[in-house]
Amino acid sequence: MNLAVIGTGYVGLVSGTCFAETGNQVICVDNNATKVARLQNGEMPIYEPGLEVIFNRNTKQGRLTFTTDLESAVKSAEVIFLALPTPPGEDGSADLSYVLGVAEQLGKIIDSYKVIVDKSTVPVGTAEKVHAAIAKNAKVEFDVVSNPEFLREGVAVEDFLKPDRVVIGTSSDRAREVMQRLYEPFVRQGNPIIFMDERSAEMTKYAANSYLAMRISFMNEVANLCEKVGANVDHVRRGIGSDKRIGNRFLFPGVGYGGSCFPKDVQALHKTAKEYNYDFRIIDSVMKVNHDQRFILSKKIKEYFNNNLKDKKIAIWGLAFKPNTDDIREAPALYIIEELVAAGATVTAFDPEAMDNVRQVMGDKVALTFGHYDALHGADALAIITEWSLFRTPDFNKMAQLMKSKVIFDGRNLYGVETLAEAGWYYNSIGRPI
Ligand code: UGA
Repeated sequence: MNLAVIGTGYVGLVSGTCFAETGNQVICVDNNATKVARLQNGEMPIYEPGLEVIFNRNTKQGRLTFTTDLESAVKSAEVIFLALPTPPGEDGSADLSYVLGVAEQLGKIIDSYKVIVDKSTVPVGTAEKVHAAIAKNAKVEFDVVSNPEFLREGVAVEDFLKPDRVVIGTSSDRAREVMQRLYEPFVRQGNPIIFMDERSAEMTKYAANSYLAMRISFMNEVANLCEKVGANVDHVRRGIGSDKRIGNRFLFPGVGYGGSCFPKDVQALHKTAKEYNYDFRIIDSVMKVNHDQRFILSKKIKEYFNNNLKDKKIAIWGLAFKPNTDDIREAPALYIIEELVAAGATVTAFDPEAMDNVRQVMGDKVALTFGHYDALHGADALAIITEWSLFRTPDFNKMAQLMKSKVIFDGRNLYGVETLAEAGWYYNSIGRPI
């Protein structure tokens, strides 16, 4: 099939590349000429494991191309994916101006039947708005389909090629047949393509992300209470996760969820509920809990040093919002660093992938180091914020030699509490005994 993907952000680039991998002819469109030139040159704008290999294969074989020319890309495509940004507006609702702006242009361009697919996370009712925006100018038939994306950064390629499920919202049989054909190669293991109406598909995406965010906030609260009652959240997590109704994934407490999706989508669902005069109380709590959880580690550090961080050097391991990405959008590390610096601390930090991005937003507020051990020189404490594999089995003797004091605040529960206590460390993690 001939496909056009409009927007070469995370979702657009991964989707376009993976669709090319299953033999489709894919043209990706972006209005950022510099970005397009780089992509045409084979440069990856994001770090995503496994993406580069299939990107190179498909660009070499001519199945994956890039352009700024919307018109020619759209005319030759049977299916057009909208993978455009939907940033939160000031009131928390998703800003649809990019999506609707492109939809209006599409109406002027299309000259034969097209399936136009909303791939971005968009509020309930957007498919209808996109339809109306295209219909203003369109002289040919078209269908608008809602096809939310569930991929996770860091494992995006795997998630896209082998999805747990594909959700397609459409009320048109013609579009349904096209989408079925397109996605069949991805669900060969028997995972379902779930067809539904457009509004339900849009709602599914928000409900999925908000549910996962709720699970994390719930576990963060359980962890905070574990600390007070003297329980260990590791045991509690295993204890509840082995119940099949609960399941053992996505139950890890930490320093709050971050990234470009959960905070934005939870907020947007809250806003949608408000618009419909529905008081979605659980979502309200999820946001409040996550707000506070971001400051858990900095609060613990401040308390430990009696609220006086002047002349204290805090080392940080992990800046990306999660491992295997360079993404720092809504990363808890940024909030924690701001707090520590505001309290007078000097901060040194290391992350395997995200340091260039941090340098751009934080400047010299934080000293970034070449390796993870380099960040520890003379440090009064180490704070672990992202659970990169690199940090899981460090050389504790070397760390003790480099640091001023043997103090670790671990926001991701990487080490055994007893092992560190026996080795003479002060080790304060999340929801576990000190
Ligand atoms: C999330 C969803 O998992 C994807 O299904 C969805 O497609 C995507 O948003 C999106 O809407 O585009 P992502 O933001 O890449 O994916 O990251 P996750 O792996 O879900 O992690 C989100 C946050 O939750 C991270 O800050 C992570 O550290 C935190 N988390 C995750 C926990 O604190 N505990 C856990 O047990 C799991």
